[in-house]
Amino acid sequence: MSDSKTTEWGSRIGFILAGAGSAIGLGAIWKFPFWAGTYGGSAFIIPYIFFTFTIGVALVMAELAIGRAGRGSAVSAMKRLGGPAFAILGGIGVLTSFIILSYYSVVGGWCVKYLFDAFSGSLVTDDPKLLVDSFGALVSDPSANIGWHLTFLTLACSIVALGVIAGIERISKYLLPLFFLLMLFITGRSLTLDGAMQGVDFLFNFSFSKLTWESVMNAMGLTFFSLSLGCTILVTYGLYLRNSTDIPSSACWISWLAIQTGILAGLMIMPAVFAMGQDPKAGPGLVFVTVPLVFSQIPMGEVFAALFYVCLLVAALTSAISLVEVVVAYLCNEWHMRRVSATLLIYVSAFTLGGASALSFGPWSGVTVGGKILFDLLDYVCTNIMMPVGGMAIAILAGWIARDQFRSQLSLVRSYSQTTLDFLSVAVRILAPIMVLLVLISGL
Ligand code: PHE
Repeated sequence: MSDSKTTEWGSRIGFILAGAGSAIGLGAIWKFPFWAGTYGGSAFIIPYIFFTFTIGVALVMAELAIGRAGRGSAVSAMKRLGGPAFAILGGIGVLTSFIILSYYSVVGGWCVKYLFDAFSGSLVTDDPKLLVDSFGALVSDPSANIGWHLTFLTLACSIVALGVIAGIERISKYLLPLFFLLMLFITGRSLTLDGAMQGVDFLFNFSFSKLTWESVMNAMGLTFFSLSLGCTILVTYGLYLRNSTDIPSSACWISWLAIQTGILAGLMIMPAVFAMGQDPKAGPGLVFVTVPLVFSQIPMGEVFAALFYVCLLVAALTSAISLVEVVVAYLCNEWHMRRVSATLLIYVSAFTLGGASALSFGPWSGVTVGGKILFDLLDYVCTNIMMPVGGMAIAILAGWIARDQFRSQLSLVRSYSQTTLDFLSVAVRILAPIMVLLVLISGL
């Protein structure tokens, strides 16, 4: 018997932090402030919060319930509850996690590199051109890009190789509280700069005219990405859940921690961006170009920059380990591999695929499909097609096919009112499939 079948989380808080660690990632720190910037602040934030606390949280519960009721890797858990077709859908979830891991760890590598530079004091400069150039040089230099990708992947895989409790749970228990403390500290600095309130205003000032179909669709897509839905991460984490852990309240905690991190990231970055007269809509370059630029203008900016990149790396790492774990659980349960061998296999394969993605910024930038380089193509396919398909499978399984098991998992520890259970059922049965369809259509 593989270790994954007998393992359980050491404590409820450890599990919640591991789940939140998966949710809190580049999505919250990188995408959220930049999209809030692009779509006019509250016109994006309000729908995002709304989706997270209705459909998002219900799908988190659905994944956890399927994992615990099915007691197997994503593939066997979904097969046990829904039959062979769902085994295939579970397999797609595992594959999605693997692909995301491969290119996510390229970006993770950039975080490690920027952290090193920040600590060595070579990062902060007030010359925007230099920052843009050095970011461009990093991503287009094959050996640097691949080297940092390998460093990040080595970190993530080593943690997972240590095991669920000794690796994933322990690292989440240490790193996430540190992460929140650092974020609060940097936010305090950012908010007390002259002119910071403009940034706050920009994030929270609501005007109906800014609410567009596109902002709402992107808020829905980010809810999905940011809660790590649809690629069976939480099904796998649910497999290790004790029967004495309450699913609804844990899911609320995970979703709440993910949301408040996004908002805190917005408050950490935007006030400083405004105070220093930078462009809040700088796009994906926000954390790798605008942030160092902003910190360079603040007294003791090197220290804050270094702490910022510690946060970014912790966020990326705790998400990456959840991606590795999905595949490890699958290999251990279905192929009876040992944890260490399974991790090693994933390490080598994700390094190879991720390496190709890394090269697509440099020497292979001419190889495109539909105008997209490999990195963008994988991201596009995973977030716009594979994750929504996985989300739909979860919604149908928990909402329609294994409905009774879903409901009984929700009230296994505490009894919830009929109204709460009915609301959650409707969210999973009807609202979630509609949301997933919309994400799918708008993504395509
Ligand atoms: N939730 C992670 C983030 O916000 C991304 C992620 C997606 C992680 C899917 C795991 C699975 O960055």
